[in-house]
Amino acid sequence: MESDNVLEEPKKILCVGLVCVDLIQIVESFPKEDSDQRCLEQRWQRGGNASNNCTVFSQLGLPCEFFGTVSKGVFADYVENDFQELNISCDNCIVHEGRDFPLSSVIINKVNGSRTIIHSNRNLPELTADDFYKLDLSKYSWIHFEGRRNTAAIADMMRRVIHYNEEERLDNQLKVKLSVELEKANRTQLLDLIPLCDVAFVGKDYATSQAYTTMSDTVRHLKPNISEGCELVVAWGDRGAMGVSKEGKIVQSIAYTPSEIVDTLGAGDTFVAGTISILVKGHSLQDGITFGCKLAGAKVAIEGLKNLK
Ligand code: ADP
Ligand code: FRU
Repeated sequence: MESDNVLEEPKKILCVGLVCVDLIQIVESFPKEDSDQRCLEQRWQRGGNASNNCTVFSQLGLPCEFFGTVSKGVFADYVENDFQELNISCDNCIVHEGRDFPLSSVIINKVNGSRTIIHSNRNLPELTADDFYKLDLSKYSWIHFEGRRNTAAIADMMRRVIHYNEEERLDNQLKVKLSVELEKANRTQLLDLIPLCDVAFVGKDYATSQAYTTMSDTVRHLKPNISEGCELVVAWGDRGAMGVSKEGKIVQSIAYTPSEIVDTLGAGDTFVAGTISILVKGHSLQDGITFGCKLAGAKVAIEGLKNLK
């Protein structure tokens, strides 16, 4: 006989986007072109915005899953083990055999914690909407998309979630929430994703590439793009973050700058995940960005994204 007392698995936060390996070198000062020197330290780290978001969610005790494309081989094995170590599911990832794993060479300057990233993604295909349609959406409370080159496919994925919410006639509290991050410079078409989501995150690099000069300038330009009842968040390095709440109110948080800035790689990803971790519990945008800034401030004071708490 079937029991009606089956324990339901808690819903997960799904992060859709990139996983790569970051090959990090920490240097005493930023190198001169065509020079030759030793670094102070080096390490590998699992990277990519969506993958970094998961690293943060997992440490905050929120069940999460990474969804993206991967290849096979030594880097893929490293990444899979690391996901497992943090209890981050990656079971639905799309495997493309015989392709190169995305890698980033990252120089971290010991003097100010700045990170200079040179990214390589030679031939690994981006996710398609068909890849996404295979997911069982009932497993997720929130789906966060990293805005990437496959903008049209991402828009289709987001529409699928909107359609699912309508079809299931879920009331607002039970709806799968949608967010997107616009971070990489010069991808103007990413703006098309803003009206489709509940919360749009915009990074400083993206904003300045659109010729917006400050957080408030960015908010002023992009506020008309959000749908009614939806939210906008703009992060701006050591200036903190600003947003528009679903009631249309402007909210703001200072940055929580530590006495020493050690490593800013993934600060933005930490901020985004920290903010979502509060919003997913139904709290206000003001509380969300304040926590996001505190967590990102704690991140820049340490190496890497682990040991955040
Ligand atoms: P990224 O370049 O990694 O996308 P940002 O530089 O825009 O990210 O920073 C994202 C968030 O991280 C900021 O809103 C802030 O809360 C925090 N942050 C970044 N740099 C600093 C810093 N120097 N001091 C304190 N907080 C910082
Ligand atoms: C940090 C990051 C790195 C990665 C790069 C990709 O935000 O996700 O981990 O190498 O950006 O652009």
